[in-house]
Amino acid sequence: MSPSEIERIFNSQDEEIHDYATAMKRSRHLALLLIFSLALSTPALAASPKKGSACKKEKLTSISQGKKFTCIKKGKKLVWNKGVKVSSKKAKASKKPTSAPATTARPTPTPTPTPTATATPTPTSTSKAATAGYTLEQVRANNNASSCWSAIDGSVYDLTKWIGSHPGGAANIRGLCGIDGTSAFKSRHGNSSGPTGQLANYLLGPLR
Ligand code: HEM
Repeated sequence: MSPSEIERIFNSQDEEIHDYATAMKRSRHLALLLIFSLALSTPALAASPKKGSACKKEKLTSISQGKKFTCIKKGKKLVWNKGVKVSSKKAKASKKPTSAPATTARPTPTPTPTPTATATPTPTSTSKAATAGYTLEQVRANNNASSCWSAIDGSVYDLTKWIGSHPGGAANIRGLCGIDGTSAFKSRHGNSSGPTGQLANYLLGPLR
């Protein structure tokens, strides 16, 4: 029904309703005008930005459906550009390697036993063997004038050089080579300081 039709209908009514009809006609015109103007203006503004659709102000940005649209000038028009995907922080984070490369099971090295500091006897001025002492076995092996060892009172002596120097004769000393000479020495020299002092010069070490 067009406004002219309405007008005709209203005109055909009797005088009583004439004023009312006129008022209605005016308000109808107004309403139509309002609807028309709204229809023209709203869609472009209200619509969410999409590529090519009109926008209001240059450089204006709007985010819609994961895209950031920017208002650009296209010819004389202002339109939304194609939009750029909005990269979320999550996406950035995923670029980083989430976990370090799995380390291959390395064979755990078996701990090498570290030598514990045991109470080792402090080495003396002589040799290691001296520290450890000498066996009677070793004394027995040095039983001649070229190498004369004797064990006296728990200590081992190398009397090789004393053989030719003994005031009581070489034979008495040779007689001690390769044996435990404690009783022979003590029976002759007992606790006399001279022979005991001389003996100390030829000490090898303790008898084991
Ligand atoms: C490794 C052992 C010996 C040592 C270091 C030794 C040392 C001496 C010394 C230093 C003397 C000089 C005098 C003294 O100070 O009394 C002496 C004298 C003498 N020693 Fe030995 N002696 C040894 C073993 C023997 C043995 C086994 C005998 C005989 C069993 C013997 C018989 C004598 C005699 C007879 C004298 C006296 C010499 C003298 O008085 O003129 N000694 N000895």
